[in-house]
Amino acid sequence: MKTISILNLKGGVAKTFTAANMAYELWRRGYKVLMLDNDKQGNLSKAYGMYDAENVAPMTRLLGGGWERAEQLISHTTYRGIDIITANMSLFGATWNLTKEEDGNQAERYKRLRDADVKWGHGWAVVGSLPIEQAYDFCIVDNPPDIGLNVVNALAITDEVIVPIKIDEWALEGLDVLEEQIEDVRAFNPSLKIRGILATSYQNTDGESAGLEWLEGKLKEKAGRGAYSKEFILWTIRYSRRVAESSFLSKPIYEYSPCCGAAQDYKKFVTAYTEKAR
Ligand SMILES: Nc1ncnc2c1ncn2[C@@H]1O[C@H](COP(=O)(O)OP(=O)(O)O)[C@@H](O)[C@H]1O
Ligand SMILES: [Mg+2]
Repeated sequence: MKTISILNLKGGVAKTFTAANMAYELWRRGYKVLMLDNDKQGNLSKAYGMYDAENVAPMTRLLGGGWERAEQLISHTTYRGIDIITANMSLFGATWNLTKEEDGNQAERYKRLRDADVKWGHGWAVVGSLPIEQAYDFCIVDNPPDIGLNVVNALAITDEVIVPIKIDEWALEGLDVLEEQIEDVRAFNPSLKIRGILATSYQNTDGESAGLEWLEGKLKEKAGRGAYSKEFILWTIRYSRRVAESSFLSKPIYEYSPCCGAAQDYKKFVTAYTEKAR
């Protein structure tokens, strides 16, 4: 299983939209995907119609350690092969409580999940149990726009970070803080790398294309150095009115509007990422 964290300290840069659509595109290529909704706002859970405001959320239990079996945490979405651990506001309290604990393993709460077994089968027929690491090909983590302990926990199990950004004069603001944080986590998770930056809601205006070119120059120096992967990619996801107009999409964009720029670009991005077309 490869774990990918979608990360940026800013809100509104399409983190959740990227997580939802990357998971879907991976699934369309036949991969089994586990999504972790690591944001108390629960937008990824909402995007898959899995939001539950009432009960203590499974992500909260995962962070707090109050669980025995992975089946207590994982829900199946309507797409067989895309599963999710959902979040809601209760994740806020759990994150806060963890900062007050002193037992030394505050950053390893999600590790326990990766090593846990999960029942596996076809439909209701349980065939056996498998470690999560083998039951899924990809784990996609949607993060909040901050670096709380829940994000540190996510980074502790992450292989690759994808950073969605919006191209404006502040596009790189916060990136140095993010790099620093990733360097810190690399002390106990050396495989952690920044794999890509996605310029989202991209419009090919003079201003944005100049911004993109500038960004390209900036990032060229970084590939293969420090926290940046050798296979680092910069990719653009076009702005699509179909996305912007609907206040909430409860379907992957490829199902809602397959021909629009955003749907096509996520598709191409995941093809480039996996080297597997669909
Ligand atoms: N390619 C796109 N074209 C148009 N609007 C987009 C695109 N990607 C994201 N959006 C819109 O941007 C807003 C913020 O996206 P979201 O994924 O919630 O950001 P974040 O999780 O970073 O806060 C949403 O309203 C979403 O519909
Ligand atoms: Mg979000």
